[in-house]
Amino acid sequence: MSEKVFYIKTFGCQMNERDSEIIAQSLAGKGYIEGMDLDDADLVILNTCSIRAKAEQKVMSLLGYLRKNKRANPALKICVAGCVAQQEGDRIIDRMSHVDLVIGTQNIYNIAELLVKADREGSVVATDLKDQYDIPNLLPSSDSDPDQNNTLFRKFVTIMQGCNNYCTYCVVPYTRGREVSRKHNDITDEVKALVNEGVKEITLLGQNVNSYGKTNEVHPANNKYSFSDLLHDVAEIQGLKRLRFTTSNPKDLTEELMVCFRDIDILCPQFHLPVQAGSDSVLKRMNRKYSVADYLDKVDKLREFCPDIALTTDIIVGFPGETEDDFAGTMQLLETVRYHGSFSFKYSDRPGTRASTFDKKLQIEESVKSRRLSRFQARQDEISLERNREYIGKIKNVMIEECSEKGVRGRTDTNHIVHLPCPTKLPVPGSFIDVKIVHAGNHSLRGEIV
Ligand code: SAH
Ligand code: SF4
Ligand code: F3S
Repeated sequence: MSEKVFYIKTFGCQMNERDSEIIAQSLAGKGYIEGMDLDDADLVILNTCSIRAKAEQKVMSLLGYLRKNKRANPALKICVAGCVAQQEGDRIIDRMSHVDLVIGTQNIYNIAELLVKADREGSVVATDLKDQYDIPNLLPSSDSDPDQNNTLFRKFVTIMQGCNNYCTYCVVPYTRGREVSRKHNDITDEVKALVNEGVKEITLLGQNVNSYGKTNEVHPANNKYSFSDLLHDVAEIQGLKRLRFTTSNPKDLTEELMVCFRDIDILCPQFHLPVQAGSDSVLKRMNRKYSVADYLDKVDKLREFCPDIALTTDIIVGFPGETEDDFAGTMQLLETVRYHGSFSFKYSDRPGTRASTFDKKLQIEESVKSRRLSRFQARQDEISLERNREYIGKIKNVMIEECSEKGVRGRTDTNHIVHLPCPTKLPVPGSFIDVKIVHAGNHSLRGEIV
């Protein structure tokens, strides 16, 4: 029997990117090969995100489009995975009867078996969530053919799943379930395997990595194993050149972790520390469990340990009840911290969250949200440019990610993209070279090889 072709479209965050790799790995060798074209696939998998209404709408419109493909080819299998699948479950099949399989965030590992079941029984919904479980240890397969782009040298490694924080706007605790930490030996084994395949840079992934180990991880030596312990252990792995992590809830940022930026050589001086808002009353209603002053104290201390650290953040504007004064607080925070960059969003009401039950009178008008968002983004752009200009004239070590006759692209330890003119002898992707920064834009730098 010839192999079937699957196509995966991934929405949302790096957790989903990583899950899509796991799905691909679970299907490979089981009669499937990965294809690059949605319209030519025998199996289409949408790995979905429901963080904001827009993300979910994108999934629904693509599913609408696929109805036509299914009509033309009734053998086509359609699978919805990820956070929309987890949240909507059966309702997806009710609305979209051409969907064969709805697979929740903890069920992706069984995709091959679930497809067999769907073949036998018709549509299948697998969305059970367990509170305690072992995250399966899926080491990267060595027969996967190494692609020529930067994904070969930079990889994400999941260290925990789920979230227990219940920020009032957020669906993640519902779509990803309770926080569970992966065994630290499994993590270091995975990093070692990746480094053996040539990976140079690892980003440790979780919704709130700072609370790694609080749930179900025990250290043999002192009975307690924290995120900082994990960073130290991963950093010891021979051949690994750069280490990063994301994301961190500021409430759990400890001094023990800050010190890592001083003490661990390969830990990159870059920190994504989502603040969400610059008003204490908004933060309280978001259930973030820190105040603006707490946050700023932590930023100051972090900069004492690592003066060159590049900080980025996430911002929500127009949270229910956000006043002009509250918003002014967010703008003020931007001036105080002067983030290197940020991701900012208009508040989106999500079903099942606590904020969605707040008095509807508190909802902020769309036009006000849009105005606040543009003001924030315009000022952030200016600050990003000012920040980036601070690098002009400096020598930075970059990891080369892409080389072609058109030009060379690398990345600094601070996570800035650097474009380089094409030299006569092309550097090898994955190699490290010193460059002098000669120009700065909002979103990238330009350099010359020294
Ligand atoms: N675990 C990460 C956040 C993951 S979601 C953390 O706590 O930092 C990524 C970002 O999406 C959040 O930081 C937040 O800024 C944004 N976000 C989450 N829910 C949202 C909503 N309902 N509306 C708008 N933005 C939202
Ligand atoms: Fe969502 Fe808050 Fe958990 Fe982040 S910490 S995933 S924002 S509930
Ligand atoms: Fe989206 Fe789920 Fe990630 S909601 S942001 S894909 S955890």
